[in-house]
Amino acid sequence: MKGKILVTGGTGYIGSHTVVELQNAGFEVIIVDDLSNSTAAVVDQIEQITGKRPDFHQFNMQNLERLEGLFKGAGNIDAVIHFAAYKAVGESVEKPLLYYRNNLLSLINLFECMEKFSVRNLVFSSSCTVYGQPDKLPVTEQTPRQTAESPYGNTKIVCEDIIRDYTHANANIQAIALRYFNPIGAHPSALIGELPNGVPNNLVPFVTQTAAGVRAQLSVFGNDYNTPDGSCIRDYINVVDLAKAHVIAIERLLDHKNLSAFEYFNVGTGAGVSVLGLLSAFEQATGQKVNFKIVGRRAGDIEKIYADTAKANEVLGWHSEATLEETLLSAWNWEKRIRKM
Ligand code: WQD
Repeated sequence: MKGKILVTGGTGYIGSHTVVELQNAGFEVIIVDDLSNSTAAVVDQIEQITGKRPDFHQFNMQNLERLEGLFKGAGNIDAVIHFAAYKAVGESVEKPLLYYRNNLLSLINLFECMEKFSVRNLVFSSSCTVYGQPDKLPVTEQTPRQTAESPYGNTKIVCEDIIRDYTHANANIQAIALRYFNPIGAHPSALIGELPNGVPNNLVPFVTQTAAGVRAQLSVFGNDYNTPDGSCIRDYINVVDLAKAHVIAIERLLDHKNLSAFEYFNVGTGAGVSVLGLLSAFEQATGQKVNFKIVGRRAGDIEKIYADTAKANEVLGWHSEATLEETLLSAWNWEKRIRKM
């Protein structure tokens, strides 16, 4: 075994894909997840993909006693990848304390356990949302962070600051934050993918559910932006490519190659794609027409953002590989499997 990795939020969308890539790379994986936004069946599907069943513990990380018990029983944990957080932008606006308490206390409890049990390495799931609407594109890691549009986004900024301050105060712990752009797609097996609770907030699951007839019509939130076709531009990153970036980050930490106590990297494709452009790519890739209508702008949406990925390319040696069409086809294959189409 190359090492033992604790993955918090490991039955979630990005977490589950990362567990698969960690196991493929030879790591032993422990998952902690409260199943607030996923199901225990994901553990079965991970086992079906890799032939190895991760050790799974169901509880919320605000429960320090349970978390300490996990660390105590796990033996030597080499590193932690921390995904576990509430992530619905709209809900965070309605229930800010729920988000601040869960997302911040989970990280604080994690650091207390890492210190107590001498676990030295952390990879943190951050987000391009920390940049707000950047003045200059593409976004580099030097682009100033801006006040977040939502309490969810602000928890990412505050968690990065907690990591910065804690790794500065505690020389025994080093960390990498990966700032995701827009993760989309599903594992090629179609056994795991994005399965939002209720009505999807995010574009691609809404697109695939509309194509599958689960939703009657997609609303495109605005075509009056200052972009070529008027719709918002984002950097859509394949979820398996994103998962692989986490494995590379873990290996960098285990090899003690981190240049400083806390490093952060943009993880995107470097290409901006508009909403309408994504819809035509989906139809091109799948042959499925998507029933949509243009409606008003969604509050809080930024106009355009896409990554400069030079740092992740040069320092981590990571590159996104999948094309947008391949990624959208993987999302459609996942939707068809769960709808038994
Ligand atoms: C993408 C584009 C919408 C739905 C958010 C979070 C980010 C991360 C990813 C958690 C926008 C448009 C969407 C729809 C639409 N979340 N859209 N109709 O808002 O860029 O990022 O999700 O980790 O932190 O901020 O992603 O997929 O919601 O929207 O027209 O039904 O699609 O306006 O332009 P977003 P999204």
